[in-house]
Amino acid sequence: MSNSTSNAANNLDAFWMPFTANRQFKSNPRMLVSAKDMHYTNAEGKPVLDGTAGLWCCNAGHSRDKIVEAVSSQIRELDYAPAFQMGHPKVFELAARISAMLPNGLDNVFFTNSGSESVDTALKIALAYHRAKGDGARTRLIGRERGYHGVGFGGISVGGIVSNRKTFGTLLTGVDHMPHTHLPEKNAFSRGIPEHGAELADELERIVTLHDASTIAAVIVEPVAGSTGVILPPKGYLKRLREICTKHGILLIFDEVITGFGRLGASFATEYFDVKPDLITTAKGLTGGTIPMGAVICSSEIYDTFMNGPENMIELFHGYTYSGHPVAAAAGLATLDIYQEENLFSRANDLAPYWEEGMHSLKDCKHVIDIRNLGLIGAIELEPIEGKPTARAFDAFLKAYEKGVLIRTTGDIIALSPPLIIEKSQIDQIVETLRDVLNNLD
Ligand SMILES: Cc1ncc(COP(=O)(O)O)c(C=O)c1O
Repeated sequence: MSNSTSNAANNLDAFWMPFTANRQFKSNPRMLVSAKDMHYTNAEGKPVLDGTAGLWCCNAGHSRDKIVEAVSSQIRELDYAPAFQMGHPKVFELAARISAMLPNGLDNVFFTNSGSESVDTALKIALAYHRAKGDGARTRLIGRERGYHGVGFGGISVGGIVSNRKTFGTLLTGVDHMPHTHLPEKNAFSRGIPEHGAELADELERIVTLHDASTIAAVIVEPVAGSTGVILPPKGYLKRLREICTKHGILLIFDEVITGFGRLGASFATEYFDVKPDLITTAKGLTGGTIPMGAVICSSEIYDTFMNGPENMIELFHGYTYSGHPVAAAAGLATLDIYQEENLFSRANDLAPYWEEGMHSLKDCKHVIDIRNLGLIGAIELEPIEGKPTARAFDAFLKAYEKGVLIRTTGDIIALSPPLIIEKSQIDQIVETLRDVLNNLD
């Protein structure tokens, strides 16, 4: 290696890291250099058990041979094909495979490169759909407080996390928000779906009364919110939202970027909750995190509405250079094969009770004020240190990493979402490491 190359590798300045305290990281870097199945290996050569499936994406585990082979042979065979006015076979196959995983009627798939792009795409489709139907006054978009829908301007506008919004100007106009469903005073330490709070869906009626349904295009929610610290929908809440949307001709968008592809022990949250939205946004687990790819799945009623004008006209003026990229499509097909061959969604469902027991066994640890779980998702909420929000959970993150377990924190909440291939002994390792870490926090 030339001197200039090795110097460049040791210089951490140039890379502006996303959603990271750059100066803190660069003063004491945590570098991961390889991964296989349930483990990372860090630059010190130590194994790190992955309690978070990367960032909620490596649902099939890491560096799986089938995906590695599919990606390498695809790049040799067809590295890229133009996404506009040209096609390649694998992207059509992948779209058909995804729609076959969903309830009838959710039949059409638009490809993107990330969850953020999926969200902005879904919002644009919703607006364009109403216009195509001659209902162009429906321009309002409704999100939810504490919602996370990625970082595009559409996503942060309908999203409800203040730090993701406040420094970026006026955002989209014509957006309103429903209240979030986190009710610790009533639901703390619920196991699975919480009992209380379905009536919060009726806030949508209040918003409809304020703006009039004829101005509202769509409502977007995460069936289970992840990035904001795992917020679960109260029993009956999502069904009620569906009913209100249907009654008023408002499209319902489920942002399934984390709940898609097995996280709840079902293919998608729509299956788990038996509530059918009009559009679904996904990414992450679609390729097991290996190659960036996202998708928006929409009802055939929406798709058919666009397939109307002259046949030589482009129906939707939207798309990305890398929509349905051949290498990502190959990764997606191989990932779906693994999910199917190893029955990973039902595996997650079978493991969920064991996971729930493990999570709730941490109830009496120091500073724990709530524990939530669903499928292979867990959240442990800590009492913040006075005047230093986020510090306690971040300390737990660092201490767990030192002990060889990767967790994630958001605010003072520890969020866990392991790959669906996790073994019971590895669940035990996560739980016992956390018990030790929590009981030794300041
Ligand atoms: C519900 C939800 N929507 C959108 C996104 C954004 O996805 P990406 O980071 O791939 O843009 C995320 C990411 O965590 C998410 O959890």
